Amino acid sequence: MPTSDSVRIAPADGKLGILIPGIGAVSTTFMAGVEAVKRGLGIPVGSLTQLATIRLGKRTDNCTPYIRDFVPLAGLNDLVFGGWDIFEDTAYEAAANARVLEPALLEKVREPLHAIRPMKAVFDSDYVRRINGPNVKQGGSKMDQAGMLMEDIENFRTSSGASRLVMIWCASTEVFHKPAPVHATLKDFECGLMKNDPEISPSQIYAYAALKSGVPFANGAPNLTTDLPALLELAREREIPICGKDFKTGQTFMKTLLAPGLKARMLGMSGWFSTNILGNRDGEVLEDPGSFKTKEETKLSVLEQILQPHLYPELYKNLYHAVRINYYPPRGDAKEGWDNIDIFGWLGYPMQIKIDFLCRDSILAAPLVLDLVLFLDLAQRAGMKGIQEWLSFYFKGPMTAPGLYPEHDIFIQLMKLKNTLRWMRGETLITHLGLEYYD
Ligand SMILES: NC(=O)c1ccc[n+]([C@@H]2O[C@H](COP(=O)([O-])OP(=O)(O)OC[C@H]3O[C@@H](n4cnc5c(N)ncnc54)[C@H](O)[C@@H]3O)[C@@H](O)[C@H]2O)c1
Repeated sequence: MPTSDSVRIAPADGKLGILIPGIGAVSTTFMAGVEAVKRGLGIPVGSLTQLATIRLGKRTDNCTPYIRDFVPLAGLNDLVFGGWDIFEDTAYEAAANARVLEPALLEKVREPLHAIRPMKAVFDSDYVRRINGPNVKQGGSKMDQAGMLMEDIENFRTSSGASRLVMIWCASTEVFHKPAPVHATLKDFECGLMKNDPEISPSQIYAYAALKSGVPFANGAPNLTTDLPALLELAREREIPICGKDFKTGQTFMKTLLAPGLKARMLGMSGWFSTNILGNRDGEVLEDPGSFKTKEETKLSVLEQILQPHLYPELYKNLYHAVRINYYPPRGDAKEGWDNIDIFGWLGYPMQIKIDFLCRDSILAAPLVLDLVLFLDLAQRAGMKGIQEWLSFYFKGPMTAPGLYPEHDIFIQLMKLKNTLRWMRGETLITHLGLEYYD
């Protein structure tokens, strides 16, 4: 890792190509949103790269530039999009089917979205069970499929004129799998690709193809993709930044807002019951117990890691935490998430908190996609490689170095993100100590 003095950030010249496995609700809302913002039809609400400022120096210095002016990020006009899906619908058709954005708005960005035709996907119905589509690569070993993806990547690079690429997984959640011997080393993994090892999932094949092609990779879903020794080895060897996993939106976002606050005041918690109804394709895939299990893992781990019951047994040891997701088509992408939180205070007296969050999943996820691709591209140009823990802010299950527990508290994550940007630019880190104001 270079020291702050030696971080050289290459300029964001030329176009940045965004490659997306999964042309569904999230990715089309993201792309349509970028096109709308470019035309002055909307504001990129929820995006730090577009709206947030960063404080530099002392509070009395009054120096708070926009993040986008402080670090060299690709501009929205320089983004070009491509992707893969098992369905042949263009991004315009997929966005219309997803019914997240109003038809009148979609119509205004029809042209650029219609031009995005998904490339044939690498798909395996053992990994995503509830859906099936015709736009799938046929034949060959898993290594051959990786080769075909690498060809797609190079063709996109040429046809789009992009000078740099980033890949972000926005496809369906794959079924729960644990790392297997085939994931131990890059050599084992490549051998497994050639032998069609069933433990290698499509998302791992996309990630492998991206890293081999020198393309940074982010995982927006909870499936086991790059958090494997084999792919970490490849990322380090090729000096490519990666991050994941599972966008932190909706209910888990609320959890990481509230739980650190309750814990900060040393309030106890005996139960947290979360249930959701959602009716989009994501909800349909999550009806499958294998895919739900993958999601449940990242959703459940958050509280345990925030509350640290091993350090505070009298407050959190007996916490009962449950998460349910119910597929309910009438709501489409407009999810409803209920939380019942049983807490206790002074002398153990019980209290309850109820949350009813009527949210829009893809509206919350789209700005995260934008920030992640821009920051990953920045990381690549700054020579940062491997796991980008400073991007934990965006994920339910942040990747960390092996053996290191992830930080879930969103305010610590934000501080880490901003301090990383300050570090990149050689600015003083902000510790919030503040003694200098009282000298
Ligand atoms: N919306 C959110 O707030 C949110 C939050 C966290 C995570 N996620 C995750 O993001 C992902 C996308 O969510 P969404 O609402 O857009 O889902 P979606 O079902 O609308 O879109 C996913 C798309 O991926 C395609 N797909 C499936 N397997 C594929 C493969 N192997 N290759 C290429 N395409 C494939 C599907 O055909 C579908 O069009 C899901 O895994 C979801 O769990 C979403």
